[in-house]
Amino acid sequence: MADASRTLAALRKAADPLAALKELYAKDPQAVLDARDHCGGATPLARALGIADDRAVRRMFTPGPRQAEVIAGAQTELEERVAAILRRSRNAHHSYESLSEALDRSVSSVRIAVEGLRAQGVAIAIDDDRVSLPTTPQRRETLHIDLCDEVTEVAVVSDTHLGHREAAEGFLAWCYEHFAERGIETVLHCGDLTEGPGERGYNGHSNAVWHSCQTWQGLEEYVVENYPCVDGITTYAIASSKSHCGWEYNASGIDMLSNIANGRHGLSARTDIVYRGHDITDVELGGVKFRLFHPDGGKAYALSYKLQKFVEAMPGGSKPDVFLVGHYHSYCTVRVRNVHAIMVPGMQYNSDLFVRNYIEPVVGALILRIQTDAEGSLRSMTVEDLADYYVPEGQR
Ligand SMILES: [Fe+2]
Ligand SMILES: [Fe+2]
Repeated sequence: MADASRTLAALRKAADPLAALKELYAKDPQAVLDARDHCGGATPLARALGIADDRAVRRMFTPGPRQAEVIAGAQTELEERVAAILRRSRNAHHSYESLSEALDRSVSSVRIAVEGLRAQGVAIAIDDDRVSLPTTPQRRETLHIDLCDEVTEVAVVSDTHLGHREAAEGFLAWCYEHFAERGIETVLHCGDLTEGPGERGYNGHSNAVWHSCQTWQGLEEYVVENYPCVDGITTYAIASSKSHCGWEYNASGIDMLSNIANGRHGLSARTDIVYRGHDITDVELGGVKFRLFHPDGGKAYALSYKLQKFVEAMPGGSKPDVFLVGHYHSYCTVRVRNVHAIMVPGMQYNSDLFVRNYIEPVVGALILRIQTDAEGSLRSMTVEDLADYYVPEGQR
């Protein structure tokens, strides 16, 4: 914590330590979090800096719009003001002219500010020359991937929660190596690829994630560096709009999984990860339609019940062949209305949260062996369950 001591010393020298602290938090949140941890909390930090209004310091670390305003990637004063308007009116569609009037700046400088924010990772949508910060990104069209072979193997993983201290990172890495050895090129990921940043989420969440993953920037960097990257394998992934990625997205408009896959200013893209939006997406391999889904809420007493109800609610003509459901950290397969519905195991070991909510985390990955007919339609499917115990103990 030598750096934290230096940070504190520099802040103490500032004419207005509170303003200096906020400015540093916007530029380098990790340095401020280190300083806070060094002091033992927000109130001791305020005391150490001689700031009488310790509530102002505590508020900086409270998840919610207040903090979002401080950290949300704005680099200039105009970007900050544009971001503040968009965040105050989530989903409203603003023309550049109306923003220019509200901010008393030229249309071209507003355009530059919007582009600047987008480059920093703020998920601003532009449609018909109007800008908005939607609470749910637009749904994506079905993605088609050529599948030439009559028999193909596809891997499925979910709930890898990278950044959480109990993420099964060793097992995940082993699975990707195993997929490569089997010649698998496609991995479908059913959501919660990352944990949420430590400073968001439920009470005590910050203790459950690695120190470097307390902020969205730190977490994105951690995932870019640590999510398995194996030659020849592409991972198609969705994010949850309700939790983890969703906590950050709802508070600040930062779409972490999009930044991880596509890059942002200061973060190189993971081109082997294809971002497919929030909650639900369709991916077609040849003529076989997979639907990836990340619901919210708890699972039912009978494991198959929710899978069955989801499929029952699907309109005829739009059903997938294979319905892959993440979020529950459980494993179950059932065929309803000729849809192979699969609850996909997670990649996270037991944690306080699971214990508190009496959830048994089922850890594993799946390999689907797909056989198609001459037209490319599904003929048969075999599900192989790679349970955690499949791997030698030292490698888990
Ligand atoms: Fe999860
Ligand atoms: Fe989830």
